[in-house]
Amino acid sequence: MRMGRRSVDEPTLAIPLETPRLILRDFTARDFEAVHAYSSLDEVTRFLVWGPNTTLQSKRTIRAYLDDQRERPRQNFDLAIIRKGEGRRGAGQQLIGGVGLKLCDGENLTGEVGYALHPDYWGQGYALEAARMIVHAGFSELGLQRIIATCDQRNKASARVMEKLGMRREGVFRQSKYIQGEWRDEFLYAILAAEFLR
Ligand SMILES: CC(C)(COP(=O)(O)OP(=O)(O)OC[C@H]1O[C@@H](n2cnc3c(N)ncnc32)[C@H](O)[C@@H]1OP(=O)(O)O)[C@@H](O)C(=O)NCCC(=O)NCCS
Repeated sequence: MRMGRRSVDEPTLAIPLETPRLILRDFTARDFEAVHAYSSLDEVTRFLVWGPNTTLQSKRTIRAYLDDQRERPRQNFDLAIIRKGEGRRGAGQQLIGGVGLKLCDGENLTGEVGYALHPDYWGQGYALEAARMIVHAGFSELGLQRIIATCDQRNKASARVMEKLGMRREGVFRQSKYIQGEWRDEFLYAILAAEFLR
């Protein structure tokens, strides 16, 4: 089966990915509590297109992640962000959020990155570290040409992460999404492989 310019035998991400402080690995069913701990919080989801999640919604989210993992060629790489533990054999490792890369336009080798962290871990550079790793893998391992990201214009933290990734603001959309009873204004950011890998 061919999907756009990607086929089943094309490279996938070498999961788990690793950064100095983090491991990015596939979600498992056992991650439910840790995922629900951040995805059920209004302060985490208030600028997002989903949430705050009920228990059922978090369970469905994880089920969708597991389905995505089996897809060939895989289109969605939603990964758990694990803070490395200090102890032996990974003792003290903690799931602090999620980072995702979605093949949103395979024909044009374009992916979309997104991230969410538990508030206990905000402001310590973890989102940037995780996003930088998955964007790097998207370009160097999946052979993407362009990676985009969108955010609500009020989401200063998310826009800042995109800018620190080296992404350029390409679009300012007015009332582009209708979410939970209100029209949302969005930014579109993007970066090209040649810029990122330079
Ligand atoms: C967006 C989010 C993932 C950022 O995570 P984080 O780990 O705190 O971000 P980092 O620590 O890597 O910060 C990266 C930059 O953003 C800045 N930043 C973080 N929070 C900020 C805020 N509330 N306002 C302005 N800048 C902020 C940091 O200061 C840093 O820039 P600096 O190095 O120049 O100081 C986190 O706030 C979050 O989970 N929010 C809820 C989910 C969400 O909105 N996801 C984005 C979907 S589009």
